[in-house]
Amino acid sequence: MYDGDIASVLITEQQIGEKVAELAKQVADDYPENGTDLVLVGVLKGAVMFMTDFARALPVPVQLEFMAVSSYGSATSSSGVVRILKDLDRDIAGRDVVIVEDIIDSGLTLSWLLKNLASRNPKSLEVVTLLRKPDAVTVDVPVKYVGFEIPNEFVVGYGLDFAERYRDLPYIGTLDPKVYTS
Ligand code: PRP
Ligand code: MN
Ligand code: MG
Repeated sequence: MYDGDIASVLITEQQIGEKVAELAKQVADDYPENGTDLVLVGVLKGAVMFMTDFARALPVPVQLEFMAVSSYGSATSSSGVVRILKDLDRDIAGRDVVIVEDIIDSGLTLSWLLKNLASRNPKSLEVVTLLRKPDAVTVDVPVKYVGFEIPNEFVVGYGLDFAERYRDLPYIGTLDPKVYTS
């Protein structure tokens, strides 16, 4: 599949599975069942694979919500100005909420999302991300749960795309530069 497009496997399917279980344990320990379900907010589309695996790995009941956002301006770098394409279906006031992201790159998407969701008065608001790139430290976003810190390379798979392709790969790999320079 995608013959020759993937330069190297950065994180294997097995490593992803182990990390998802580890993150789920951390989150479950921090949110013991209290009669009100935890709300997971997955950020479409990149977070779908992680969201579905993470929700099933969590030994506490969760409700699934999704948001789709799009940054205005350049297609290749986030401008920090975000537009809601799909909003939550439910009110999150008074609820424990965890945003589920596949990757934090510049941190601008998440920075905006945290402000937006915080204004809806949840009881608590945290973030779990599978991947984080080094640039994310330049924007001050508090992320409690991080799976892997990765180098500043173009990665695809397990939800992450290049031009909407490669999301269906079960592992995370680096993209051969020939794919985006040709
Ligand atoms: C990607 C990724 C994160 C965001 C991170 O989403 O899934 O949501 O960019 O970038 P940032 O930290 O620089 O803001 P994208 O906008 O490509 O949409 P997608 O999830 O549909 O691929
Ligand atoms: Mn995304
Ligand atoms: Mg994308």
